[in-house]
Amino acid sequence: MPLTRPLAEATVVITGASSGIGTATAYDLARRGTAVVLAARSAPALSEVARRCRELGGRALAVPTDVTDPVAVEELAARAVTEFGRIDAWVNNAAVSAVGLFDEIPVEEFRRVVEVNLLGTAYGTRAALPWLSASGGGVLVNNASVLAEVAMPYQSAYNATKHGIRGLADTVRQELRVTGRDAVSVCTVLPATIDTPFFRHAGNHTGRELVPPPPIYPPEMVAETIVRLLRRPRREAYAGGAARLMGLQWRVAPALAERALGWYVHRTQFGTARAVESSGNVFRPDAEAVRAGGWHGRRGQLLRMTAAFGLAAAGTAVGTVAAITRRTRAGR
Ligand SMILES: NC(=O)c1ccc[n+]([C@@H]2O[C@H](COP(=O)([O-])OP(=O)(O)OC[C@H]3O[C@@H](n4cnc5c(N)ncnc54)[C@H](OP(=O)(O)O)[C@@H]3O)[C@@H](O)[C@H]2O)c1
Repeated sequence: MPLTRPLAEATVVITGASSGIGTATAYDLARRGTAVVLAARSAPALSEVARRCRELGGRALAVPTDVTDPVAVEELAARAVTEFGRIDAWVNNAAVSAVGLFDEIPVEEFRRVVEVNLLGTAYGTRAALPWLSASGGGVLVNNASVLAEVAMPYQSAYNATKHGIRGLADTVRQELRVTGRDAVSVCTVLPATIDTPFFRHAGNHTGRELVPPPPIYPPEMVAETIVRLLRRPRREAYAGGAARLMGLQWRVAPALAERALGWYVHRTQFGTARAVESSGNVFRPDAEAVRAGGWHGRRGQLLRMTAAFGLAAAGTAVGTVAAITRRTRAGR
């Protein structure tokens, strides 16, 4: 069920609001007059986003919060209610990544990615549900990734958490329905690659510069998807045609898609520069109230990568048709 009141009268909590998609979502809602409650670790960046939200016409409260702390997340919900009287929607968006081969990522970093992405989403969901129910029909949006459905090499911890977020959302939705609380909607967003600082923030254990695998979409597109879900909730929504295509390939011909995506990402996720080993923002805040990652400036490299993506997509499409043909023949 959609929000029970117009966005201009609603209160929306957003985690990971100090950067990228979270910042873009806050600005989109602020333009509609929504009261936004902004959470992340970087207090100065959050204050800057709040200031800009007020300029855009919204009401805004910045609450520095580490989502790995369940008590802090409960306090975030309480602060939202004290300030604005209610919570109509909650967007679990905060995430980090440690990029590298599974057996080369430090164990403590792998654990922390799980704590931020999966447990942070679980704590946010627990804190939000009573208030969403109290509002008579709230919306919970988990910003996962297409990596909740498909897999890519060098992102094992991230992929595992995003698959977990999708499973968690499906289960909570079932439980709300069977216990008569289905006025609260639970939605999962599955974006493709997005132009945010994410790839600069990520821990890097590959020895090489990280670059986002194309095609790359703007963060505002995910913000629009999230706002659309607040108005018309659905179980899941892709953000970006490439995510939809990858999801389809994975469902129809999973073994082939797994090979094609592995090949593609192995070739496109790294730039030419060397990079020192780093845990990025996994343990410490590193946000600057910036939405875009600036990857569109690197056109030459991106064009080559886009060509590679086209090849991989075409190869998988051919394989998909082959798989369908095989199944049809086997069914005769
Ligand atoms: N960029 C992509 O290609 C892409 C694609 C699909 C899905 N997504 C998803 O989109 C969401 C937003 O990512 P983004 O691309 O906007 O990346 P981003 O710019 O790096 O933003 C990540 C946000 O999470 C916050 N954060 C990290 N650890 C936190 C913690 N322990 N507690 C509270 N906040 C924390 C960061 O702020 P602080 O450092 O201030 O805490 C930041 O605001 C993530 O869930 C990501 O998985 C991204």
